[in-house]
Amino acid sequence: MDDKKQLEQFEAKIAAGLKIEPKDWMPEAYRKQLIRMMSQHAHSEIVGMLPEGNWITRAPSLRRKAILLAKVQDEAGHGLYLYSATETLGVDRSELLEQLHSGKAKYSSIFNYPTLTWADIGAIGWLVDGAAIMNQTALARGSYGPYSRAMVKICKEESFHNRQGYEIMMNLAQGTPEQKEMAQDAFNRWWWPSIMMLGPSDDKSPNSDQLMRWKVKMESNDAIRQRFIDRTVPQAEFIGLKVPDADLKFNDVTGHYEHGPINWEEFFDVIKGNGPCNAKRIKDRVEADKKGAWVREAATAYAAKQAKEKLVA
Ligand code: 3HC
Repeated sequence: MDDKKQLEQFEAKIAAGLKIEPKDWMPEAYRKQLIRMMSQHAHSEIVGMLPEGNWITRAPSLRRKAILLAKVQDEAGHGLYLYSATETLGVDRSELLEQLHSGKAKYSSIFNYPTLTWADIGAIGWLVDGAAIMNQTALARGSYGPYSRAMVKICKEESFHNRQGYEIMMNLAQGTPEQKEMAQDAFNRWWWPSIMMLGPSDDKSPNSDQLMRWKVKMESNDAIRQRFIDRTVPQAEFIGLKVPDADLKFNDVTGHYEHGPINWEEFFDVIKGNGPCNAKRIKDRVEADKKGAWVREAATAYAAKQAKEKLVA
């Protein structure tokens, strides 16, 4: 079959809502887009462990510590599924990690901001995981089987992360004036980066058209951002926090919130590597990788030994 016919069949399958599986024919551009997006997503999960992991020893109670520990472990698991899913496209995990460690690969802009107080852990769960779920529930309906299936379990776990973050913020907001101030301060610092992490505005998003045509992305960056804002503003009001956007207003006609201008200059600067924590995140990740080398070697040696014993038996 020639490429044109295969492309037609591929697109017909997608239009019919069927999944594309690893051994199916796919255009090279589809494979490349998936590797780019899925690996960036995998990197985001494991880099995201760093700012939160930093607070495990400083959690204010045993309950909070156990919850945060579980959350950070969940993120490691998400990284694992996503690297495995990316490998189904014929790329090796070590190659992807090399791209991350050398600074060639992107990961979510959001993890280049510092976590200054305990309230930041609440803000991350509520806002960052909240924004991630908005995006990922849409991705769970996407066309590539291994990616969309990974999203189902990830979204369930992110939903727990989102609630634990909101609960931290709610408790702080109902606490002493100092605690409420801490919650508001964290909210002020994380609101705009959370809105930006959903990707540049549609007119500045070069990949969206192709990704939406092939149903990798089901909705545009701006559409998901709007949904996130519409859902989060009432949550903030409910716990008595003020959204740090003087221009924010509800439009009765459209039924949506209208927000002030987004600082896209800051966003593009952060994804170029110039955010407050980019250099530290990569340094810490490279160090963590080095420290874990003996575990990988031991696991590989054990697997080889087992395979040899099976062969002899
Ligand atoms: N951070 C860093 N880079 C970003 C970005 C962000 N928040 N948003 C967009 N970019 C990059 C894109 O990767 C692209 O760069 P490239 O072409 O060099 O690869 C460029 O900016 C232009 O953006 P586009 O809108 O054209 O890119 P996409 O169409 O890929 O859309 C996206 C961006 C919405 C983030 C999409 O890639 C996506 O949905 N990715 C999967 C989800 C994901 O990665 N989530 C990470 C969130 S963190 C997380 O889940 C961890 C959890 O613990 C909270």
